[in-house]
Amino acid sequence: MARLLLGVTGGIAAYKAVAFVRLATAAGHVVRVLQTPASQRFVAPETFRAITGAPVLSDEFQPDPLRGAFPGDPLPTHEPISHLALVERADLYVIAPATANTIAALAQGRADALVASAYLAADGPVLVAPAMNHRMWHHPATVRNVARVRDDGAVIVPPGSGRLASLGEAGDGRLAEPDELLDAVERRLADGARHDLAGLRVLVSAGGTREPIDAVRYVGNRSSGRMGYAVAERAAARGARVTVVAANVALPDPPGVDVVRVGTAEELRRACSAAFDATDVLVMAAAVADFRPATPESGKIKKQGRAGMTVELEPTTDVLSELSARRRDGQVLVGFAAEHGDGALGHARGKLERKRLDAVVLNDVSVPGIAFDAVDNAVTIVTADGERIVERASKVDVADEILDAVVARLPS
Ligand code: CTP
Repeated sequence: MARLLLGVTGGIAAYKAVAFVRLATAAGHVVRVLQTPASQRFVAPETFRAITGAPVLSDEFQPDPLRGAFPGDPLPTHEPISHLALVERADLYVIAPATANTIAALAQGRADALVASAYLAADGPVLVAPAMNHRMWHHPATVRNVARVRDDGAVIVPPGSGRLASLGEAGDGRLAEPDELLDAVERRLADGARHDLAGLRVLVSAGGTREPIDAVRYVGNRSSGRMGYAVAERAAARGARVTVVAANVALPDPPGVDVVRVGTAEELRRACSAAFDATDVLVMAAAVADFRPATPESGKIKKQGRAGMTVELEPTTDVLSELSARRRDGQVLVGFAAEHGDGALGHARGKLERKRLDAVVLNDVSVPGIAFDAVDNAVTIVTADGERIVERASKVDVADEILDAVVARLPS
């Protein structure tokens, strides 16, 4: 059970905040609501009062009949000096939906509405769930403001994609669904309790390398970088200082993570090698080319006059083996193994031993809908102690399982 303070701002998506409160209270949390005046044009405060069992505040000067208490708490004997007492008592402050205007106020530290002044007064965790038209969401001003709010420490629950409120428009900008909001809330609450990577440096490689054949063509693979980015994001949320070496990843940067962009296996090798000595944990999720064209052309190869073509490949350096050969005591190294069908576990265990790793995350790439370029994954985490099977789950959840295995192997 947690005390959730919910700030509702003025957008059509305010109706989803009602569904979120219902889910959150059903899950055992207690909720108090702050509303901007504009949001009351979409949902009346009586609705939130009825489902939270507590009055709704929208103005700094409005007395709080509950004196800053949450439902179920004893009524304080003293009238609080300010209504910011509510955010002091909250375990988590959730702003959903957060309009472009509110996000701008948060980014600038403007205290012109109770929802925004409570944000400034919050010294606990904050979660912000934007909702707006897709053109507003992609405007550089909003992009800048969201990045600022994220850098200031709030967790951003990204909007989903689909039909928007204005007739015939579709795109990004829909408020995350109520169950997604509740998931994000539970995760943020759990992270507060689980800061088990605090003070550690984590290096993650993500994506897939591309090895040039000529000036425009390459040998590549289908890795999207989602798994590596999920590990980076979760490690940062669990308190680590995270660097991700990203090979050709087209995803938004994970919040609070340093991103080093690379293209080829050799560039990835250099970037990982430079960061490795200072790192406590290495998670090598990138799909690194094992071979590259031996003599890439500097120009564009013309097809004219060729009946066929052979590209000669030469091996690349195995980055993980090279790093593991110079590992120091106390470092934890995790590799990935993309295997196809029979004998997968044996091959993964072989890699664990050959590359002197602490864990190998085995993906069976013969199963449709998981692993490469998918949102979900299902893996087996292979260690010297045995195997842990992680059934199909989001890559974010799989990332947490991988990090749990890391934590179990850290020197105490
Ligand atoms: N890896 C690496 N450098 C390479 C190739 C792979 O660091 N040049 C890393 C990957 O990031 C991954 C692990 O090694 O963590 C995968 O091991 P690898 O033996 O290359 O597995 P596969 O690519 O699946 O190769 P194969 O099964 O063909 O041996």
